[in-house]
Amino acid sequence: METRELILTVLVLYSSTVSLILAQNETTYLRELPTGQKLLCNRCPPGYRLQKHCTATHQTICKPCDAGLYTEVWNYIYECLPCRWCRPDQVEVQKCTNSTNRVCGCKEGFYLDSDICRPHSVCPSGYRVKEKGTPDRDTVCEHCQKGFHADGQLGNALCVPYSECKSEEKLLLHGTIYMDNVCVTCNRITCDDWVKFIIQPFTAVFKNHSTCKLFHFIGRLTTSKCGCVFRSVVDQDFCFQQLEEWFSKATEQQVSNLPRLLQKASIRDLAKNIKQRIMKIRNEVRLCRNTLPARK
Ligand SMILES: *[C@@H]1O[C@H](CO)[C@@H](O)[C@H](O)[C@H]1NC(C)=O
Ligand SMILES: *[C@@H]1O[C@H](CO)[C@@H](O)[C@H](O)[C@H]1NC(C)=O
Ligand SMILES: *[C@@H]1O[C@H](CO)[C@@H](O)[C@H](O)[C@H]1NC(C)=O
Repeated sequence: METRELILTVLVLYSSTVSLILAQNETTYLRELPTGQKLLCNRCPPGYRLQKHCTATHQTICKPCDAGLYTEVWNYIYECLPCRWCRPDQVEVQKCTNSTNRVCGCKEGFYLDSDICRPHSVCPSGYRVKEKGTPDRDTVCEHCQKGFHADGQLGNALCVPYSECKSEEKLLLHGTIYMDNVCVTCNRITCDDWVKFIIQPFTAVFKNHSTCKLFHFIGRLTTSKCGCVFRSVVDQDFCFQQLEEWFSKATEQQVSNLPRLLQKASIRDLAKNIKQRIMKIRNEVRLCRNTLPARK
């Protein structure tokens, strides 16, 4: 008796395990009718949804998903899922189909950062683009190494080694990460106004000191709209363009006056920096003036 019961129990357990195993199939599911009868029904394939469960007499009835809706896996759900919509800052990367959701990505020049599309960073002056931004990642910038300066458009610059002065040239200004060495011949500085040689290098030095104080200073100096609103610079490129233009028209006297004006505006680091450079240039110019006539 006991043995027979045991065998029966094992058999029941075994058969229900078999049913469960049958139900674990990707394309079928197990359905229990109110009568307790168990049926193995077909699931609906991707692109379809369930219309009617199977019964003892007919198989599952499936219906295609309507446009804009999808099912990705074999299923027995009554409603297809709606495809997601792309936000205005996104573009469609993959269309919505009856079996796949729509895929959205950031627009050109943007990357995804915690579900928000942000514009790629522009590498600041003195930095090169180490890795370009992708739809998934921001630009990676890298500081130029010693002996190199950033050359090219802001945001697209490369780190380039300093030019070497030729034997007949003098090093008028030492390079920094922002600017190349400035080499000139004595002939050129004695014939030309030295202001000509400092337009770009001095603008580069100003760029390294970008603060709101400085942008207000540039605005006053160039009588332009350069400045800051709510502690953020109106248009940095515009400001430095204005400054470059000012340098290109400035006289030696006006440039020599800059350290004093900067000092007055409490931009002391820059005042000191510019003052030292002007002193160095004047010294070189004087040396040239003294040596040149002797050579003639
Ligand atoms: C699922 O089970 C059914 C019925 O037992 C069988 O015909 C089918 O080949 C199985 N499918 C998979 C993917 O295993
Ligand atoms: C799903 O879309 C494909 C491609 O457009 C089409 O061939 C197929 O018939 C569609 N399936 C259903 C169930 O509508
Ligand atoms: C750049 O700015 C920093 C901080 O103001 C200063 O220490 C450094 O000397 C500057 N570099 C150049 C090349 O002017």
